[in-house]
Amino acid sequence: SKSIAVMASGRGSNLKVILDAVAAGECPVDVRLVICDRGDAKALDIARAAGVANVIYLNPKDYDGREQFDAECADLLDRHGCQWIVLAGYMRILSSSFVRRFRGRIINIHPSILPAFTGARAVEDALAYGVKLSGCTVHLVDEVLDGGPILAQSIVPVLDDDNRDSLHARIQIEEHKLYPATLKRMVEDGFTIEGRRVIWAS
Ligand code: GAR
Repeated sequence: SKSIAVMASGRGSNLKVILDAVAAGECPVDVRLVICDRGDAKALDIARAAGVANVIYLNPKDYDGREQFDAECADLLDRHGCQWIVLAGYMRILSSSFVRRFRGRIINIHPSILPAFTGARAVEDALAYGVKLSGCTVHLVDEVLDGGPILAQSIVPVLDDDNRDSLHARIQIEEHKLYPATLKRMVEDGFTIEGRRVIWAS
């Protein structure tokens, strides 16, 4: 199994399903560390309740800018021997030095079918655009915001009476299946990258 860290800012439902999958023996990773950048993140309670050994809140205001904040995160990740960094509703942009340091080892889940609707308002943007299908994407993180190679996607319909919350809820049902399944596949099968394309080993 691989040691991973999860970084989260909010509700932590993706963190929860990963921890549940690990506990059920369905996802061969060891969540060694959870880092949150918000003291009120429910993700902190979820991590503590699940018995994650290292649950850490870092307040960005205590650091002199993004580089320093990310450097502290990076030191924690190294200290705890985390092989992969799983972003689960982590709403801070990572500095390019952080991305370089962990290149190919950071994954994110995003609530749209990338490359459509990047950024922090993906669900509202998809709704406002009027697309009839949306979904979620698990991808590797590189220096381009929401732009790294795609590992997996799932689609959902957009309904005429949807609002942001109803569409997001439908997308999250898919996220909660896709993220643990993709982590499992990464550990058990592995992949290579050709250009932008992720080629799964099996
Ligand atoms: C998820 O829907 C995730 O796709 C999205 O935030 C939500 C976090 O939910 N991420 C982004 O928008 C990243 N730009 P959670 O805290 O319940 O896991």
